[in-house]
Amino acid sequence: MEKRIKSIENPEGKLGVLIVGLNGAVSTTFLAGVYSILKGLSSPIGSLTQMGTIRIGNRDDNFFPRIKEFIPLTELKDLVFGGWDIRNENCYESSLYAGVLSKEDLAKVKQELEIISPMKGVFDQFYVKRLKGDFVKEEGNKYEKMLMLREDIKRFRKENDLERIVIIWCASTEIYIPVNGVHRDIDNLISAMRNNHPDISPSMLYAYAAISEDVPFINGAPNLSCDVPALIQFSKENSVPVAGKDFKTGQTLMKTVIAPMLKSKMLGLSGWFSNNILGNRDGEVLDDPESFKTKEQSKLSVLNYILQPKLYPELYSEFYHKVRINYYPPRGDDKEGWDNIDIFGWMHYPMQIKIDFLCKDSILAAPLVLDLVLFMDFAKRYNFSGIQSWLSFYFKSPIHKENDIPEHDLFIQLAKLKNTLRATMGFEVVSHFEEDRNNIDV
Ligand SMILES: NC(=O)c1ccc[n+]([C@@H]2O[C@H](COP(=O)([O-])OP(=O)(O)OC[C@H]3O[C@@H](n4cnc5c(N)ncnc54)[C@H](O)[C@@H]3O)[C@@H](O)[C@H]2O)c1
Repeated sequence: MEKRIKSIENPEGKLGVLIVGLNGAVSTTFLAGVYSILKGLSSPIGSLTQMGTIRIGNRDDNFFPRIKEFIPLTELKDLVFGGWDIRNENCYESSLYAGVLSKEDLAKVKQELEIISPMKGVFDQFYVKRLKGDFVKEEGNKYEKMLMLREDIKRFRKENDLERIVIIWCASTEIYIPVNGVHRDIDNLISAMRNNHPDISPSMLYAYAAISEDVPFINGAPNLSCDVPALIQFSKENSVPVAGKDFKTGQTLMKTVIAPMLKSKMLGLSGWFSNNILGNRDGEVLDDPESFKTKEQSKLSVLNYILQPKLYPELYSEFYHKVRINYYPPRGDDKEGWDNIDIFGWMHYPMQIKIDFLCKDSILAAPLVLDLVLFMDFAKRYNFSGIQSWLSFYFKSPIHKENDIPEHDLFIQLAKLKNTLRATMGFEVVSHFEEDRNNIDV
């Protein structure tokens, strides 16, 4: 197998990682994990960039390099962390509060976490009803607050002597806002920011500030943020990659594995009931109907996209789909996701599948944060801009162009991601059809 072009250089210098929601459960679990890996105390389980391999060439070439060795990714030792939150705590205090990791594990990275504290966030309780912020930027209209975020980014870059920065939204889920005229183009968006329009949420201000500062932006929550026409256009014009939305970690991860199996086997679906209990702050925020609606939209669309009822009306035109999230404090971050799936087979005979996923929300999300930060930095250095659909693998509700159909099937998403890496490095993409033809013994 022959490499055609040398397309991208090794990263130089330090990469800044600015996390919105720095003191949350996902963020602090991510940070503690990175430091624990750097100290040789644990390994990056769940991270495709660190543990995954990629096949190059035909199977019989027997060449399966690790992804992190195949593409020039920034090394963990070169990451510098910072971010914003609406409570002034250092990340060690917040990680204790989050209650995801044991006190023993946190003690081993206490020194590193203690020195990371947030900058004042841009927050308005109108958008997250269940939270109060006492560490927030008070002055100015929305446009001026966005300018303050830009100043924060510039300062962080300078103080830490950074080559590059990536920003990731790991903050709370905001209320549901439908895309409308104020989001249509950049002029409308700017005047809406200046006029404090209610359809401009804080997450949009962070996204705007990132793109203006030439910084890739990732949205791990289901709220719109960068997923509006004006910001997508802005990201393309500024040559900045954006990605989102809503980390695919638990129940939807299961859905995007089981549903393609049903479709590939031509098994019918009559109902899918998904129920969750969780007791962390995210669960509390999602207990508010307006924030839940944002999450619900994100979770509901998956099945219709995968099952294509229009193509298979006999199998999928009438299934009942319900998603529930219940705030249940005793469980903390230990989410339990039940799925009851009613299916039918040969001669319409009914069957059931039950899933009970006892997971740890932040343990599942932390490696996604790492992969996304590293891949988005890679995308920026490769001059990708706008929506990064090759990173759909990581999201419940992949951002897509207005008339595109997003891909939800986990394994097609993975194939797309790996083929993108192969192509950027100048290698053939993997086509199973061609490979099978080569293997036919003639
Ligand atoms: N853990 C998962 O598996 C998973 C999966 C998909 C999506 N998510 C999303 O990721 C986000 C983080 O989850 P979490 O469990 O860490 O929640 P969390 O409540 O523990 O953390 C959110 C943090 O964001 C801060 N915050 C809220 N609004 C802010 C603002 N405007 N500016 C700065 N900081 C702000 C909060 O103070 C808090 O520290 C949530 O939106 C959640 O829905 C998580």
